[in-house]
Amino acid sequence: MVAISEVTNNNNNNNNKVASSNSTQHGANRTAAHTHIKGLGLDSQGVAKSVEGGFVGQIAAREACGVIVDLIKAKKMSGKAILLAGGPSTGKTALALAISQELGPKVPFCPLVGSELYSAEVKKTEALMENFRRAIGLRIKETKEVYEGEVTELTPEDAENPLGGYGKTISHVIIGLKSAKGTKTLRLDPTIYESIQREKVNVGDVIYIESNTGAVKRVGRSDAYATEFDLETEEYVPLPKGEVHKKKEIVQDVTLHDLDVANARPQGGQDVVSMMGQLLKPKKTEITEKLRQEVNKVVAKYIDQGVAELVPGVLFIDEVNMLDIEIFTYLNRALESNIAPIVVLASNRGMTTVRGTEDIVSPHGIPPDLIDRLLIVRTLPYNKDEIRTIIERRSKVEGLELTNESLDFLADLGVATSLRYALQLLSPAGILAQTFGRNEIAVSDIEEAKTLFLDAKRSTKILETTKNYL
Ligand SMILES: Nc1ncnc2c1ncn2[C@@H]1O[C@H](COP(=O)(O)OP(=O)(O)OP(=O)(O)O)[C@@H](O)[C@H]1O
Ligand SMILES: [Mg+2]
Repeated sequence: MVAISEVTNNNNNNNNKVASSNSTQHGANRTAAHTHIKGLGLDSQGVAKSVEGGFVGQIAAREACGVIVDLIKAKKMSGKAILLAGGPSTGKTALALAISQELGPKVPFCPLVGSELYSAEVKKTEALMENFRRAIGLRIKETKEVYEGEVTELTPEDAENPLGGYGKTISHVIIGLKSAKGTKTLRLDPTIYESIQREKVNVGDVIYIESNTGAVKRVGRSDAYATEFDLETEEYVPLPKGEVHKKKEIVQDVTLHDLDVANARPQGGQDVVSMMGQLLKPKKTEITEKLRQEVNKVVAKYIDQGVAELVPGVLFIDEVNMLDIEIFTYLNRALESNIAPIVVLASNRGMTTVRGTEDIVSPHGIPPDLIDRLLIVRTLPYNKDEIRTIIERRSKVEGLELTNESLDFLADLGVATSLRYALQLLSPAGILAQTFGRNEIAVSDIEEAKTLFLDAKRSTKILETTKNYL
C-alpha cells in the first residue's frame, strides 16, 4: 500500500512561489536528415498541396500514403503490406516518417532497417515477431480512483539520513493540486516522489496520481501557462473538471510487446500496465511463443468485454532487400495472423537476388509470393525545380541563407549527382561562408565544399582509375 495522505490544513496553499524551473530545452538548433518533414501535407480531401508539410512534389506517392493513413485510422488495414519503391533519395524514408507523424503519437509506429534483424543472440524470426508486437497497440480503459489537478506546489521535505553521514533523505513530499472545483494538499511517500521526478513534473503541470498504486501520470501543461512557454512539443490541457479526488476513466495506450515484457518480468514496468501486468501468474520467464499466446488470449477476452480495443499500427522495414528468404516466409505467415499491424516496406533496388537463395532473382530482392501481396507505391526522381525548392526549405530549417545563384547551382548539382549530395553540401558550405565572414552562402563556397567532399560518382571514378587505392 502506498501512503498518500491529505493535508487538511490548507494554509500554505497560496504558496505558489516554488520556482517552476523553465525546462525549455535548447535543442532547437539540432537538425537531422528529415527535420524539415512535418507530415504528408494533404488537404481535407486528401489532395497533396505542392509544397506543404515540408514535402515538395512526389504528389502521387503522398496521396497514396494519405489513403493508407486513413485506412489505418479506420482499422481496415491490418495484415496488409505496402512497398515504397523508388530510386535513392526520392523520399521513401521521409514518406514513412510522415505517415507516422500523421498517425499521431497514439498509434504505434515501429521503424527498423532490414539488417537490424540479424543478431548473434536473438533468432531473426524472434526479432521480427518482437517488432510485430511493438507495432500493435492496445487501448485499455479502466476506472480508477485518482487525485487529479494542476500542480500548485511541489515541496520535497528533507529528513536527516537515519544512517548518519552527510546525505539527506526525503521524508515526504507535499504536493498541492488544483481542479475546477477545489484544491487539495497531499503528503506523499518518497517512492511517489521518484515517479514524479521520472515524469518530469513541474509546477503548472496537470497530473494525476492513482490512489491505489501511487502511479503518477503527467497529462500535460495547464493551458493557463500556454502563453508563457511556446514549445511546440508541449501539450496544453485545461484545468481538470470536478473535484481533485474522484473516480476517473483512464485510457492507457500500450503495445502488445509492453504486455509481453510486463508479464515476463512481473517485477518491472509496474506503472505502464497496472492491470494487465498481473494477468498471468507471476513467473519469471523469457518472452516465449507460449507466453505471447497467453497474452493474446487475455487480450482477446478484454476486447470481448469492451475494456480494451486493438489499435493496429505500422511496422516500417527500410532496406527490405536485406531480409532473407527465411524472414520473408515468416513475414508471409505473420501477415495472415488475425492480429497483425500494417507493414510498410521500402526499397531502392531493382532486380536483385533474394538473400539466402542462390538463384531466385526478383524485383527488390523480394520473393514473388510476397510481391503478390503488396500494394506498391512508387516514388519518382525529382526535377530541378523540386530539388531547388527542397534545398530552399532545408536551408531555412538549418538557418542558412543562400544567394539565388547558389540555389540554382546546388539544384543543378542535385540533378547531376543526387538530392542527398546537394543537401549534404549545405552545412559545410554554410561553415565555409562563415569562415569568410559572410552570412549568405555564395557559389564559391559550394564549389569549395564540392572539392572537399566527393559525391558517389566521382569517388567511384577515382577508385576505378587508381587501382589498389585502398
Ligand atoms: N519530396 C520531398 N520534400 C522534401 N524533402 C525531401 C523530399 N524527398 C526527399 N527529401 C529529403 O531528401 C533526403 C533524402 O530522402 P530519403 O532519405 O527519404 O530518401 P530515400 O528514398 O529513403 O533514399 P534511400 O533509397 O537512399 O534510402 C532526406 O533528407 C529527405 O528528408
Ligand atoms: Mg531511405
